[in-house]
Amino acid sequence: MGTKENNPSFPLRIVVVIVVILLWLTLSGWRIQLPSAVAETDTVYQERVIHSSDGIGKFYMGREIAKVMGHTEALWLERPSREVTEQPQQVVEALDLKPTDVVADIGAGTGYFSFRISPLIPEGKVLAVDIQPEMLDIIDFLEKENNITNVEPILGSITDPNLPKESVDLALMVDAYHEFEYPKEMMEGIVRSLKPGGYVVLVEYRRENPLILIKALHKMTQKQARQEMKAVGLQWLETKHFLPEQHLMVFQKPKN
Ligand SMILES: C[S@@+](CC[C@H](N)C(=O)[O-])C[C@H]1O[C@@H](n2cnc3c(N)ncnc32)[C@H](O)[C@@H]1O
Repeated sequence: MGTKENNPSFPLRIVVVIVVILLWLTLSGWRIQLPSAVAETDTVYQERVIHSSDGIGKFYMGREIAKVMGHTEALWLERPSREVTEQPQQVVEALDLKPTDVVADIGAGTGYFSFRISPLIPEGKVLAVDIQPEMLDIIDFLEKENNITNVEPILGSITDPNLPKESVDLALMVDAYHEFEYPKEMMEGIVRSLKPGGYVVLVEYRRENPLILIKALHKMTQKQARQEMKAVGLQWLETKHFLPEQHLMVFQKPKN
């Protein structure tokens, strides 16, 4: 009477408790890491069974990698409100480019930044890298439509930006790096493509601020970003604070 063995509702209660815990973990953003749910796939990346629905379940230096924004959402990148929230013109002016510079816009999307940079480097060029051919088709179309000749679309892979060695003065990543499925390999490729003393500029929504209404995995803390850039040998130079919601972080490849 009243023991575990002869109480038929006992297993049901356990199932309900487990379901409630799993639901809670999912809704609370999975921040609790269960040792049994972690698979040490290699020393660089870890995979976790319990993770954010916005991420791919793969972690790099403690950060879950976000899902890639698909090309069907390309119009989102061209939304007029970006002029206010992301101030693209101020961003490109802050890059302090020379007319002859070669700039790699990695994760270029529709070329939102590539086409704002191209007039500033009339004797140089923009290498607009993306892994989605559909994004590059949009860049190609806009380039022809607007008679622009110094933006070169480049199809990268998830591990390699496919850029020539020591050819780039500045590599820019706006709202893109957090989506790289192989951030270490991508950054190693980017560093290889930089001239000695070349720059990396990373623009990411500030994850420190919970009031910025962007999904958590699509934001980065400055601490995390600096740690990940340091891991590939880049030196942090400065973080510019003029943007309303994003960090603009500047790194440099050592001069040798
Ligand atoms: C959110 S969009 C940002 C696009 C653009 N930078 C902008 O600010 O409008 C991120 C882009 O990064 C691209 N991407 C994701 N992983 C990549 C990788 N490993 N190499 C190059 N591009 C990548 C995606 O295909 C997508 O077009």
